[in-house]
Formats: sequence, structure tokens, C-alpha cells
Amino acid sequence: MLYVDGKWVEADQLSVHPEDRGYNFGDGIYEVVRIYKGKMYQWEGHLTRLLRSAREIKLDMPWTAEELSRIADELMARNNITSEDDATLYLQVTRGVAPRVHDIPSGIRPVIMGFVRRKERPLADMKKGMTAKVIEDIRWLRCDIKTLNLLGAVLVKQYAKEAGAQESILHRNGTVTECSAANLFMVKDNELYTHPANHLILNGITRLDVIELAKANGFTVHEEPFTVDFMMQADEVFGTGTTVEVMPIISIDGQPVGGGSVGPVVQKLQQLFEERIT
Ligand code: PDD
Repeated sequence: MLYVDGKWVEADQLSVHPEDRGYNFGDGIYEVVRIYKGKMYQWEGHLTRLLRSAREIKLDMPWTAEELSRIADELMARNNITSEDDATLYLQVTRGVAPRVHDIPSGIRPVIMGFVRRKERPLADMKKGMTAKVIEDIRWLRCDIKTLNLLGAVLVKQYAKEAGAQESILHRNGTVTECSAANLFMVKDNELYTHPANHLILNGITRLDVIELAKANGFTVHEEPFTVDFMMQADEVFGTGTTVEVMPIISIDGQPVGGGSVGPVVQKLQQLFEERIT
């Protein structure tokens, strides 16, 4: 069951208005929330970010935080998510329907849509690690907003796939930003490096978790820009995100990272993350 603009419907009953601005322009925002064993993980963080994204795109949200929480809870209940289930919840808000002009029509009413899908955790990849390719970050300059406009992310992921890699690591003029749908960390001499949370990356909920866990366990974390060349000298590299959790990257552009297998720091962070979600 989906929640669409105030109604509960099945997927095949959903119709999208041809002039919904989400459909025409990608004019809207979204969140992907993990459900572990029937419970939403870091819902408050996702909710806060959704409301921030709305403000940043000048979208007036007609729902309170409590109403959005109720919608999320009801999505889980109506889809019979139990304490046995791992799943994801997807929630999007488009600006709404109006005759197609680029500027924001006044009086427009946002349209909300949400669904839940059962989804296993990526345990095999987390154990084995992934391959990645370095690709130019062709996205826009407000990557801090979780917008529906994802064509840049779609293309960079596709370029990586066509090059035979599982993940894309993005750079702007030689500075590493993040992955197509995850943040990126590297480890050098037991210290962590990740791009600062500014307009060039999404400030991931998992990123914040990992920074907090790492610091609490004695690691130094540098939230500062670093180059592709520096990353190629890393002992370990990993991505973080709602869908990939803490994902080791064991080869970049065909070169092994560190020893070419999953390293001790990422294993430690995986273990700490595991303790937090279970
Ligand atoms: N993507 N960076 C980008 C560009 C992302 O799209 C995401 C998440 C992240 C990680 O953020 P978080 O830890 O809050 O999930 C970083 C979601 C999962 C997606 O688009 O499917």
C-alpha cells in the first residue's frame, strides 16, 4: 500500500498528473529511511533533513513533523512490517501540480507519496567489499539538498557500471566529494578523512553516525577536502549510506586499496554500526 496525496492506494492505482512538477522538473525532495527489524532507524534525522530540504527549495510543507511521523508509522503498519522485517521506507514530496512554468507558481499545493519495500541488508558486499571507479562529479552545486532531481547521480552510477565497477567515487577538479548515493571516507595511518558537509555533498545520516562512532572510539576524523591522489594512497576506503551501511571499497580504477581486502578500521566501524542498529 502506498500513501499518495492523502489516500491509501495500491501501486497500480497510482496516477501521476502530467503537470506534477516532480514529474516535469524533478521539483521535489525525498528521504530513504532504513527499517531494521520492524523499526525505523534515525527517523528523526531523516525528518529533520526532509524539512531542511523543503526550506532550501522554498517548498512550504503543509504537514507537521508529527503528521509525517504518523504517515511513516502507518506505512509500516499497512504493509505488515513486523519485527522480523528489514525494509526501506521511501517518502517524497513534490511541489505539486500547476501549468508548466519554470518559476514557482503561487498557491501551489505539495503532493506527498510514500511506500515501503522489504529489503535485505547488503551483508555479502559489506563482507567482501566493492569495486569503484573515479568519475567527474557532474552534479549541480546544491548537493546538500536531497532533491528528486537525480540525473547527475544516475549518469555517474551508470558510467561506473559500464566501466565494470560497482560504485562511482566522484571528484571535482581532483577533490573527492562522495559517491553517487553514499558518502565517502578514507583511512590513512589510522585517521579518517571525509569531505566537509557543505553544498558539494549530502550530509548523510550514516556519515554522521560513523563520525560520531569513530570519534567516540578514539579515531581522529578530518572533515576536510582531500584529493584523488591522496585517496589512491589510502590504507582503506569506504562508503556510508542508508542502503550501503558501511561499505568497504577494495579497489579503485582497477588498483587495490591498501592490501586489496577489507581493512581493520572499516571492520571495526562495521561492528560499531551493527551494535547501534541491533
Ligand atoms: N542516498 N550522498 C548521496 C548523494 C546520497 O544520495 C545518499 C543517500 C548519501 C547517504 O546519506 P544517508 O546516510 O543519509 O542515507 C550520501 C539514498 C539512500 C538514495 O538516494 O537512495
